[in-house]
Amino acid sequence: MVETQSIFPIVSELPEQHQPPVCHQRSYLINGEIKTWKGDVKSVQSPVYTSENGKLAPVNLGHFPLLDEAEAEKALAAAEQAYNKGQGEWATMKVKDRLSCMETFIEKMKVQREAVVRMLMWEIGKTESDSAKEFDRTVEYIQDTIDAVKDMNRKAAKLELEQGVYAQIRRGPIGVVFCMGPYNYPLNETFATLIPALIMGNSTILKPAKYGVLLLEPLLKAFKESFPAGVVNIIYGKGSLLGNYLLGTGRIHVLAFIGSTRVANVLKKQHPKPNRLRTVFGLEAKNPAIVMNDCDIDATAKECMLGALSYNGQRCTALKIIWVHEDIAAEFIQKLKQNIAASKVGMPWENPQITPLPEPDKPAYLQELVNDATSKGAELIIPHGKDDEASMVYPKLLVGVNSEMKVYHEEQFGPVVPIATFSSLQEPIDYLTNSPYGQQASLFSDNHETIANLIDPLVNQVCRLNINSQCQRGPDVYPFNGRKDSAEGTLSVSDALRQFSIRTLVAAKNTSTNKRIISSIYQERSSNFMSTDFIL
Ligand code: G3H
Repeated sequence: MVETQSIFPIVSELPEQHQPPVCHQRSYLINGEIKTWKGDVKSVQSPVYTSENGKLAPVNLGHFPLLDEAEAEKALAAAEQAYNKGQGEWATMKVKDRLSCMETFIEKMKVQREAVVRMLMWEIGKTESDSAKEFDRTVEYIQDTIDAVKDMNRKAAKLELEQGVYAQIRRGPIGVVFCMGPYNYPLNETFATLIPALIMGNSTILKPAKYGVLLLEPLLKAFKESFPAGVVNIIYGKGSLLGNYLLGTGRIHVLAFIGSTRVANVLKKQHPKPNRLRTVFGLEAKNPAIVMNDCDIDATAKECMLGALSYNGQRCTALKIIWVHEDIAAEFIQKLKQNIAASKVGMPWENPQITPLPEPDKPAYLQELVNDATSKGAELIIPHGKDDEASMVYPKLLVGVNSEMKVYHEEQFGPVVPIATFSSLQEPIDYLTNSPYGQQASLFSDNHETIANLIDPLVNQVCRLNINSQCQRGPDVYPFNGRKDSAEGTLSVSDALRQFSIRTLVAAKNTSTNKRIISSIYQERSSNFMSTDFIL
C-alpha cells in the first residue's frame, strides 16, 4: 500500500476480505412478492472514505429504491388484507404454528450472517465485532421472544372462574403495525419491535432508517419464504413521505419508532384519529454519569470512556454528560484523557474504539457544539491530538461545561464528551430533574451510603440507575424505557409482547348451558383461542 497521511485506506488495495460489499438494490417486499422498483433510487455512501491520489472520497456501496406513496399504499393494503380485520390466516393461526414460521425465519436469517455483518460495517461504520454482536444478539432476541410467547401462552392456557364468571384471557393482535428503526442499531432495534409485533399476530410494514438500509436486503427472501403473504412488507424511501402518508391514512394501528422526538411527534400528528393509534417510541436521551469523590477513579475513568465512546457515542444509552465532583475532577479528567488517548481509531474491520461517522452532517454539528462551548469558556482536550478528517471525528473532551452551552442540553450522539464539575450533589440532581429527558443515569462511588443517597432522589427521574457501570439497554429481558421525552412504552423481551397486543377474554356466566358449551369447545379443540393446549 502506498504511504499515506490519511487515516483512510486506499480501498482498492485492501485484501479481498476487507473489500466493500456493493448492492444496487431495487427490490422490496409487498404482499409476499419481491418486487423490482423502476423509479428513483438513493445512492449509499459509506462512512469509510478511500484515499486515492491524495484525494478523499466516500466509498459507494450502491443504492436503494425511493418508493412513492402509491407503493406505500400497496404495502398498507397488503397488510390490511393479510390481517383481514383480525380474521386473517396469521392473526387467527395457532400460536405454535406462528412460532414455527418464526423458527423457519431464524434458520434462513442465520445463513445471511456474513452478508449482513459486512454491510453493517460498511454502511454505518460499526466495528466488525460489534456488527457480529448485533447480529447474534438479534437472533438470540428472536429466540428469547419465542420462549417468552410459549411462557405467556402456557400461563393463559386455563379457564378462570371469578364471581360466577368463567373467562379465558389471552393477548391478541391489534392490527397493522408500522415499524421504523434507527440507524445506530439498524438490525437489532428494528427487529426488537418488528419481531414481537409479528409474533403476536399483527401484520407489519417495515421501513428502515436513513442509514443502515442495504443490510436488510439479504433478508427479504427469508421474510418472503417464512411468513404468509402480506404479513411482512418492507418498503424503502423517504421517511417523511412514506411515514406521513401511512399515518395520514388513519389505517395504522401501532407506530413503533426509534429515533428523534421531533420526527416521532410529526408522525403521530398525521393520524386523523390519535385515539386509534398506539405508539411505541425509543427517543432521545442525555444520560449523565455522576462521579463521586469516593469512587475508584481508575475503574470509573475506564467505564466512562466505554459509556461515552462505544460506537463513537452513537447509542441512545451513551453517557452524554459527565458530572464529576470537584475534589477529584483533575485526576479523573487526566485518567479519562489517558484512556481515550490509548484507544485505537481506525476502520471497522480493525475493531478499533473509534470509527468514521455515518451521518454526513454530524462532523460539522459536533464542531459547532465544540465552538459554542469553547467560546463560552470550556476547555477543549483532544486526547489523540489529531485533526478530524472527513467522517473521522476524534474524541473530544469539553471541560467546564455549564448551562450556557448547547452541549449541556443537546444530545450530541457522537464522540464529544462534556464534563461538568459539582461541589454539591444537588447540582447533578437538579440537572436530571430539569432535563427534558429521563432514560438512565450512572452513579460512581465505592460507598454504599453515597449511592443510597442518590438512588431515592433519582429513581423517579429516570428508568434505570446503573451503579458503577455505564448505561445500557441489555440484558434484553430487562425493561428498557424512559420518562419524559425519552420514550413511550417499555421494550424488554416480554414487555414488547404486551406493547404489540391487547388483552382479550372470552367470558361466560356459570350456567349449565354455558358449562356444556365450554366443555365441548375444549374437548373438541374447536377454537384456537379457547384452548388449554400447552406449547412445550
Ligand atoms: O441506541 C440505543 C440502544 O438501544 C442502546 O443499546 O445499550 O445495548 O448499546 P445498548
